[in-house]
Amino acid sequence: MPKPKVFVTRIIRDKGLDLVRDFCEAEVWPGDLPPSREAMLEKVRGVDGLLCMLSDRVDAEVLEAAGPGLKVVSTYAVGFDNIDVAAATARKIPVGNTPGVLTEATADFAFALLMAAARRVTEAERSLRAGKWQTWQPSGLLGVDFVGATLGLVGFGRIGQAVARRASGFGMRVIYFSPTTPPNPSLAATPVESLDALLAQSDFVSLHTPLTPQTRQMVNADFLSKMKPNAVLVNTARGGVLDQSALYDALKNKRIFAAALDVTDPEPLPLDSPLLTLENCLIAPHIASASQKTRDDMAVLAAENLIAGLKGERLPHCVNPQVYAG
Ligand code: GLV
Ligand code: GLV
Repeated sequence: MPKPKVFVTRIIRDKGLDLVRDFCEAEVWPGDLPPSREAMLEKVRGVDGLLCMLSDRVDAEVLEAAGPGLKVVSTYAVGFDNIDVAAATARKIPVGNTPGVLTEATADFAFALLMAAARRVTEAERSLRAGKWQTWQPSGLLGVDFVGATLGLVGFGRIGQAVARRASGFGMRVIYFSPTTPPNPSLAATPVESLDALLAQSDFVSLHTPLTPQTRQMVNADFLSKMKPNAVLVNTARGGVLDQSALYDALKNKRIFAAALDVTDPEPLPLDSPLLTLENCLIAPHIASASQKTRDDMAVLAAENLIAGLKGERLPHCVNPQVYAG
């Protein structure tokens, strides 16, 4: 039997890539940058499986270009807003993602951003490198405190809950708003009945929702105006949940204390983005899951989803289980 043909859109960690190569005839995109749209449409032609990144748009046109032999799409990410899942479901193609394995690393990084923004870590280092460290300052670079502060989590899935556990260790009170998560009494976190209630109480707000039509641009001028005047905002979810020009205004006018973003819209963030002119805005290049072990585990899970789909087996993590109904 010939091996199934797959296209892998970037070089992923060997632990996963070796599994893919053992089972498949794999074409792996060698570049540091994603394949262009044209290259994507060409490389998927006739494949049995596609292993993609969150930076690849996988829509009906890509599924069409792959043709009727396509059995599975496996993304190397937990978020899957880059994939037209409805179009895949209509073609009975299961879509796999990598939940769970990146929860702790992502929560670590959300907490790192929260602390860095509150205590002005990157701003302080920039000022040192610019030669501005002249002496110890009684009132320079003052930040905000954690103990006794309230952290409001918007979304309370695996990652939100992992952030809540970290916050407890810092003596913070944790509240969350999540219309979908049932209360978890084992966590020291209290549900609130509305987003407005969360914003009114929170000294820190951290976003842990997927990007959906409901959450797109959820953080707008109205949302920001309801935050406490000295609050810190952290986004490790998706850039699209936030209106960057509204955030710019809020930060510029010191309506809130600071923001820290691991995700932007678009990505990469253009270097002429006004956000980059602000001292109270910290921006990282979408690296929350970027730890060595986590990326190994994601590579293995993405490979397992791919291979299960090629074998006609149920994917270990499938975002559209409807494909298995009936
Ligand atoms: C990263 O953003 C992911 O969705 O895994
Ligand atoms: C992602 O893993 C989440 O459920 O928050």
